[in-house]
Amino acid sequence: MFLKRLSLINFKSYTQADINFTHRINCFVGNNGQGKTNLLDAIHYLSLCKSAFNAIDSQNVRHGEEFFVVQGIFYRSNAEENIYLAVKRNEGKVVKRNGKEYPRLADHVGLVPTVMVSPADSSLILDGSEERRKFLNGVISQFDKSYLDQVIKYNRVLAQRNKLLKDLRFNSSGVDIIDVFNQQLDALGTAIYKTRLEFISKLIPVFQKVYSQIAGSDENVSLEYKSQLADGRFLEQLQAAFPKDRAIEFTSVGIHKDDLVLLLNGNPIKKEGSQGQQKTYLIALKVAQFDFLEEISGYKPVLLLDDIFDKLDMDRVEQFIRMLSDGGNGFGQVFITDTNKHRLDSILEKLDAGYTLFEVKHGNVTEIAQQDGSKEE
Ligand SMILES: Nc1ncnc2c1ncn2[C@@H]1O[C@H](COP(=O)(O)OP(=O)(O)OP(=O)(O)O)[C@@H](O)[C@H]1O
Ligand SMILES: [Mg+2]
Repeated sequence: MFLKRLSLINFKSYTQADINFTHRINCFVGNNGQGKTNLLDAIHYLSLCKSAFNAIDSQNVRHGEEFFVVQGIFYRSNAEENIYLAVKRNEGKVVKRNGKEYPRLADHVGLVPTVMVSPADSSLILDGSEERRKFLNGVISQFDKSYLDQVIKYNRVLAQRNKLLKDLRFNSSGVDIIDVFNQQLDALGTAIYKTRLEFISKLIPVFQKVYSQIAGSDENVSLEYKSQLADGRFLEQLQAAFPKDRAIEFTSVGIHKDDLVLLLNGNPIKKEGSQGQQKTYLIALKVAQFDFLEEISGYKPVLLLDDIFDKLDMDRVEQFIRMLSDGGNGFGQVFITDTNKHRLDSILEKLDAGYTLFEVKHGNVTEIAQQDGSKEE
């Protein structure tokens, strides 16, 4: 599966663009603020119906314009898939597949999977547990439609239970309803817990293998899923927590407290890891996500690599290039951005795969070099 052609109208810094891509490595080089990341974000939109960076669709409309259109022609299972996404200020979003509008955006998610690695991922390491739950939810809902429904329903019941806990301070007549909420949270939360557990246990071995491929075997990384639901039946924990929850007016147990513990040599990577080690950690996590999505969907996701060579030493860069090459880890189409043309040139020299290099300048995208790969499609 790959993106053959991307067309933009009024998307972020672009007035208009039409670009043809190779099915292997596509590189965007240019100075800061020229529109490289915006191109990756347009591809992210076509896959997940949303920006990787800005959740408010209208803010991705070019300033002073009323709408944007992002259109992509993908090649998938020997057929073309024409994906059209438009956002009009104050009117919401329309997504079409081959001219036919989707009734629900969620129906599109999963058709053309992508994995993005970007500097913004550092929030996974540096920020609070909510970021890591968002990561889990984002990845799992790309392949499991019922999961997202369960999370939405869980959050709704959780809000109702929390409201009841507050109301009980003034009026204890509704106290019996807590049992209903407990039952509902138990069913939804336990299902979510099991899905997360299964996903993470599949992710860990791939993640560790990729990390050592890039970094060598001296460093040891791990990833642990931390959930209160591992301590016993959720319903019983909810019942036992009721007196405390009533006092603090908040539900103190549940999958809304889940976290991922990210470790380097047994210590939290946030404190222990250098910038390059943290970056390697995130790349390995995303490559593991890639493998998982490929296994589930049967298609190689489009890999979007934003500024990833920054902070990596030459050894790590070379290992990663080996993975991207034909005969490496089996990636399909890849998009790479970089500000440093010298670095990119030396990377492309070592790369054993077909590529196209584009220069991005003031919102114009120009092909400046191209090389056929050693292998055919
Ligand atoms: N809605 C919008 N309308 C107009 N311009 C926008 C909009 N959103 C973002 N931009 C512009 O896009 C530019 C950023 O583009 P982008 O993030 O793609 O740059 P980049 O080439 O990746 O730069 P860097 O090398 O610094 O990462 C900014 O200059 C910003 O002003
Ligand atoms: Mg950028």
